[in-house]
Amino acid sequence: MSDLDAVIHGAAEIAAVRSGGELETIENGAVAVRDGEIEAVGDTGTIVAEHPPENAEVAIDATGKTVTPGFVDPHTHAVFAGDRSDEFEAKLRGKRYQEILAEGGGILRTVRATREADDETLLEDLLEHLDVMLAHGSTTVEVKSGYGLDTETELRMLETIERADERHPIDLVPTYMGAHAVPEGTGADRYVDDVVDEQLPAVESQGIAEFCDVFCEEGVFDVEQSRRVLEAGLEHGLKPKVHAEEFVRLGGAALAADLGATSADHLLHATTGDVRALNDAGTVPVLLPGTAFGLGAEYADAQGMLAEDAPVALATDFNPNCYAHSMGYAMTLGCVGMRMTPAQSLVAATHNAARSIDRPAGGLLEAGTPADICVLDAPSFVHVPYNFGVNRVETVLKGGEVVHAR
Ligand code: NIG
Ligand code: FE
Repeated sequence: MSDLDAVIHGAAEIAAVRSGGELETIENGAVAVRDGEIEAVGDTGTIVAEHPPENAEVAIDATGKTVTPGFVDPHTHAVFAGDRSDEFEAKLRGKRYQEILAEGGGILRTVRATREADDETLLEDLLEHLDVMLAHGSTTVEVKSGYGLDTETELRMLETIERADERHPIDLVPTYMGAHAVPEGTGADRYVDDVVDEQLPAVESQGIAEFCDVFCEEGVFDVEQSRRVLEAGLEHGLKPKVHAEEFVRLGGAALAADLGATSADHLLHATTGDVRALNDAGTVPVLLPGTAFGLGAEYADAQGMLAEDAPVALATDFNPNCYAHSMGYAMTLGCVGMRMTPAQSLVAATHNAARSIDRPAGGLLEAGTPADICVLDAPSFVHVPYNFGVNRVETVLKGGEVVHAR
């Protein structure tokens, strides 16, 4: 039998997320890892008797600490160039996000900077963002293209995601989002023609993207245009995701349900009917409270969704408009802003987040699952959302290997 990769023992708490989404907390707990997978989780006495720490490559004394699954961040726009901190100030003075976009700022400004940036700069910047995310406990991160809005740059962005995935311990999940905005000098219908006729066939032959996403929003792509994009995406082998009901209720959630999308994201203005339709379709609602927080907008109705038994997921939405790398902070906002319980926020940031990127066995802490693990310098997982503005993640394991330690 191969050696144990790791034994983490004596933990004040193991926050064991189980398949099915239940959270069990174990006091004085231990985790044994072999061949990149969790072999056993339980109380320290039992685990250590069967899996002696001295037989493991890595032994972690977790006295006073907490063990959780690695966080899964299922919605980011982490490849981009340029700086939009001045827009942060403009928004604080009362300028609206859509106004900035309509004037050629916002996404369109990042598009100009990204088109001009060379491949190495895009890659280096992405790797730096991933380092910060890893230090905050994210072990799997979805990353979208969508700051190219032309075939060449969209493919370059996807290639950057693939190269970063090869170099960085975080697992990356690439999403093509050519329909993120309407590029300057064209109209939405004409641009959708370009996405459908030129970009999507090229994205399929490149073979990197797994999902196709669209910004279904007033002034961006309407429901019919969004449907065209996502149906063409399906024909090219890409599973649908939708930016839905962020600023107005346009029908993106119903579209996501109708297409059996993997997730519908934002959902600030979704109704109970929308949530039921998503549930019936098996579409996971992904909530991005950092975006609402940053925009000073009202949060999505997480309580209403949880009351409908929806598998609510959380994400950072990291992008130049929402400059937030930390899933722990998304959990804080989930709790304080949307009244989720800390346990609901942890499941939303791990297993439900994994479901929203079609990784149904991800974000768990139980035998037989990948050993993606965080060790916190805190006596319970509740300290992650409770202790906002501070990073309590001390050690991160990816596939059983220590990939971050402070
Ligand atoms: O999810 N809403 C659209 N897309 C991003 C924002 C991207 C940007 O402003 O650069 C989001 O929040
Ligand atoms: Fe987004």
